[in-house]
Amino acid sequence: MTDVKKKETQNSPKSKTRGQGGGPGHGMPLGRPAEKAKDFKGTTKRLIRYIGQYKWLMLIVIIVTILTTLLAVVAPNYSRFILNDLQEMIVGSLSQDEGVARIKGFFWLIIILQVIRFLLSMVMFLVGNKVSVFIGRKMRNDIREKFEKMPIKYFDSRQTGDILSVVSNDVDVVTNSIQQSLINIISSFFSILGILVMMFIISWKLTIIALLILPLFILATSTIAKKSQSKFIRQQKQLGSLNGHIEEVFSASKIVKLFGKEDESFEEFQDINTSLAVDMRDAQFLSGLIRPIMEFISNIGYVAVVIVGGILAGATNPLLVGDITIFITYQKNFVNPILNIANVINQLQSTIAGAERIFEVLDQAEENQDFALNEVNNYDFKGHVEFKDIDFSYSEDTELIKDLNLEVLPGKQIAIVGPTGAGKTTLVNLLMRFYEVNNGGIYIDGVKSTDYPRPILRKQFGMVLQDTWLFSGTIKENVAFGKPDATDEEIIKACKQAHVHHYIETLPKGYDTVLKEDADNISKGQKQLLTIARAILFDPKILILDEATSSVDTRTESYIQNAMTFMMEGKTSFVIAHRLSTIKKAHTILVMNNGRIVEQGNHKELLDKNGIYADLYNSQFLNQPT
Ligand SMILES: Nc1ncnc2c1ncn2[C@@H]1O[C@H](COP(=O)(O)OP(=O)(O)OP(=O)(O)O)[C@@H](O)[C@H]1O
Ligand SMILES: [Mg+2]
Repeated sequence: MTDVKKKETQNSPKSKTRGQGGGPGHGMPLGRPAEKAKDFKGTTKRLIRYIGQYKWLMLIVIIVTILTTLLAVVAPNYSRFILNDLQEMIVGSLSQDEGVARIKGFFWLIIILQVIRFLLSMVMFLVGNKVSVFIGRKMRNDIREKFEKMPIKYFDSRQTGDILSVVSNDVDVVTNSIQQSLINIISSFFSILGILVMMFIISWKLTIIALLILPLFILATSTIAKKSQSKFIRQQKQLGSLNGHIEEVFSASKIVKLFGKEDESFEEFQDINTSLAVDMRDAQFLSGLIRPIMEFISNIGYVAVVIVGGILAGATNPLLVGDITIFITYQKNFVNPILNIANVINQLQSTIAGAERIFEVLDQAEENQDFALNEVNNYDFKGHVEFKDIDFSYSEDTELIKDLNLEVLPGKQIAIVGPTGAGKTTLVNLLMRFYEVNNGGIYIDGVKSTDYPRPILRKQFGMVLQDTWLFSGTIKENVAFGKPDATDEEIIKACKQAHVHHYIETLPKGYDTVLKEDADNISKGQKQLLTIARAILFDPKILILDEATSSVDTRTESYIQNAMTFMMEGKTSFVIAHRLSTIKKAHTILVMNNGRIVEQGNHKELLDKNGIYADLYNSQFLNQPT
C-alpha cells in the first residue's frame, strides 16, 4: 500500500515542479521558471509577521548589509584617486613627496575599509544564518505541533510525500531564502544605487552613455529568458515522468518480472529518457546563451565609454586615467546586481509558494480541544460503551453508517463480523474518536466521548489493528510503548502470552533487536504478535482487536486465542474477525453489512435464526473445518 502511495506522490503534478533542485537558488541556470504563489502579497505579509519575533536580528542584518554594500561601492573610488595621483605625478602637476604621501594615505584607507567590510560581512552572515536557523526550527515545531491537533481525516486525503515535502523541502527553501534573498536583494539594490551615484560623480556624460545600453540589455535577456522558461517547464515534466517510471519499476519490480514486461518497460523508459535529453539540451543551450549575450552587449558599452572617455580626456576639464579605469570597473559591477535582482525575484516566488504551503498546513482545522471534563486523569473507567443514533460518513457524498444503536455492558465481549467494507473498522475509528460522528453520540460510562479529553479517552483503549503499527526502535521499546515504565520481566511475560517470546529469543540481539522503520525484517504475523504483546502489557479497560490474528497460522492463533481470552477477562472488548471460529464464545455477535447492524445475538441465537451469520458460518465451516 505504501508503495502505491509513493508512486502517486511522484506522479502528482505538484511534485513534478518541486523537489528537483529545491527551487531556484544560487547557481541556478538563468531563465529557469519559478513556481508561482497563489497570493503573493498576502503570504509575503504573513511571512513578515511570522518572522516578526526576530525583527531586531533582521534589522541588524539589513543595516549591516547596507553598510557592507556601501563600503564595497566606495572602496574603488580610492583606487581611482591613487591612479589619478600617479598620472599627475608623471605629468608633473603633483610633486613627488606630496603624491607619495597622498597615495600612502589612500592605500591605508583602502586596507582599513576592506578589513571593516570583511568584519561586517562576517556579522551579516552569522546573524543572517542564526535568524534563518531559528525560523526553520520554529516552522518545523509549529508544523509538528499542528500535526498533533489535526484530525486523521487530514492525513487521509493527502499523500505522505506531499506532507513530508512541506516539512523538509518547503521549510528549507523558505528559511534559506529568508537569509539569502534578504541579503541579496538589499545588497543588489544598494549596489545599483551606490554605483550610479559614484558613476555620476566621476562623469555624468559617461554615465548617460553607459545607461544607454540598458534597454537593449533588458530586451535581449528577457526575450531569451522567456524562451528558455518554456523549455525548462518541459524538461521538468519529463523529469517528473522519468521519476514516476523509475519509482514504478522499483516498487512493482516483482510484478513487472512476473508478467515478463521488462522489455516493454525498458522501451518506455528509453522514450522518456530521450525526450528528456532533448529538452534538457534546448533548455541549457538557451539559458547558457543569456550570459554571453549580456557580456557582448556590455562590452559594446565599454567600448563606447572608452571612446567617449578618450575624447573627454582631451577636453578642457579632462578625465584622468583613474577616472576612466574605475568608471569601467563600476560599469562592469553594475550589471551583476541587476541580474541578481531578477534572480532573487524568481527565488522569492518559490519562497512565497513554499511559505503558502506551510501556512496552509498551519491553517488547517484542528480537532476540537474543549472538553467538559478536564480533570478526569484518575477517573476509574468501568467500560460501559453505548452508541446512540450514530450517523457517519467519510465523505459528504457517500453515506456509510446510519442510525446505529448499540449498548455494551462492562466486561462483555462483542464480536463484529460482516463482509469486507461493511464498516467494522469504521466503528472502531469512531469509538477511538479518530473520526468524529456526524450525528448522535458515543457514551463511555454514561459520558459523551467528546466530553473526555482525547488522550484520556484513548488511554482506556488497547488496540491490535489490521495494519500493525511498529516504529523504528528495539522490540523492547515497541512492546513497552503503552507502558514505558514496564520492567523487563513484565515485557517478557507479555511476549510469552502473545507467543512471540521464543521467536524473539532466536534473534541474535533478542529484545534489543532494532526494528526498521517499516519493520521489513520481521514477518507480518510476527508483527501482529508484537502488537498483541503490546496490548497485553498495556492492560487497558477496553480492548479492540481488529483482525488481530489474521496473519498468523492457525496453531499460533489458537494459542493466542487462549492468551487473549485470559486478557479479555473482565474487560469490555470489541473483536473483529473474519474467521468465525475465533469469536464463537463472544457474548454478543454483531453482523454488519453496508454500515448497518443487520443481526445481533450470541452464536447459538444467530445460528438458530438461520440468517446471514448462519450462512457465513456454515460456508466457512464447510470449506475449512478447523
Ligand atoms: N479513511 C477512509 N476514507 C474514506 N473512506 C473510507 C475510509 N476508510 C474506509 N472507508 C470506506 O468505508 C467503508 C467501510 O470500511 P471499513 O474499513 O470500515 O470496512 P471493514 O468492514 O473494516 O472491512 P474489512 O473487513 O475489509 O476490514 C468502505 O467502503 C471503505 O471504502
Ligand atoms: Mg476492517
